[in-house]
Amino acid sequence: MQEPIKEKVLMDHIPKHIAIIMDGNGRWAKARSLPRISGHKEGINSVREITRVCGEIGVRHLTLYTFSTENWKRPSSEVSALMHLLLKTIKEEIEELHREEVRFTIIGDLDTIPSRTAKGLMEGVKMTEKNTGLNLNLALNYGSRQEIIKAIKNLALKVQSGDLNPANIDINLLSDCLYTRDIPDPDLLIRTSGECRLSNFLLWQIAYTEIFMTELFWPEFREKQLMDAILDFQSRERRFGNVGQKIQN
Ligand code: IPE
Ligand code: IPE
Ligand code: MG
Repeated sequence: MQEPIKEKVLMDHIPKHIAIIMDGNGRWAKARSLPRISGHKEGINSVREITRVCGEIGVRHLTLYTFSTENWKRPSSEVSALMHLLLKTIKEEIEELHREEVRFTIIGDLDTIPSRTAKGLMEGVKMTEKNTGLNLNLALNYGSRQEIIKAIKNLALKVQSGDLNPANIDINLLSDCLYTRDIPDPDLLIRTSGECRLSNFLLWQIAYTEIFMTELFWPEFREKQLMDAILDFQSRERRFGNVGQKIQN
């Protein structure tokens, strides 16, 4: 059933890095009179499917916004259910991810994540660190503004110690102080659930990223919807400030 759309996607023009704001789990559950956590559980099925498809079509990095620095404002029952679900999921999925050569990484501040969850996640990172397939990168307790402040403090300390001349601070130097220092900027950013905002996600890194918004809730976002987003991406002309081929006289 899904073959025709997969065939339409240009395999030599697959985004190297896809970042996703996985939003709408709660509303998906509410629409079905289910508790919010059921939406998070169903969202994991989307994560599994999207990860598999990204691996199959040759995406190199998939960054998933899993928990923001602002999500601590939620009721503590939801936060602890999410942390528990995260640990349970990684324990259940990591062997299969490892077999598929997925390299599992995390961006964000793990220091304030419950220690059992952080430990379980770090075991997954360690286990898969030499894998050469898809990089599945979870943004966890991640906030882009906090990330940028951390980078600036880092640079300021180097200036203070005399190791860095402020005149030499440039885009590359700051990028190298971010959690994402080893991965290219996203080519495609997807946000589900109809919200048109960035919610403190990768603000620096998405300077020239193509953005795709969909009304669908995250648990409804599966292989076909990913292919639609990639097809849309492939129809765009990225100009990076230059004049484009299509609009030159
Ligand atoms: C996204 O779904 C998952 C997380 C932020 C952890 P939400 O939980 O934000 O779902 P809505 O936006 O309330 O529907
Ligand atoms: C963004 O979704 C964070 C994640 C998907 C992890 P939110 O649901 O927290 O965003 P807002 O509050 O609607 O902006
Ligand atoms: Mg939300």
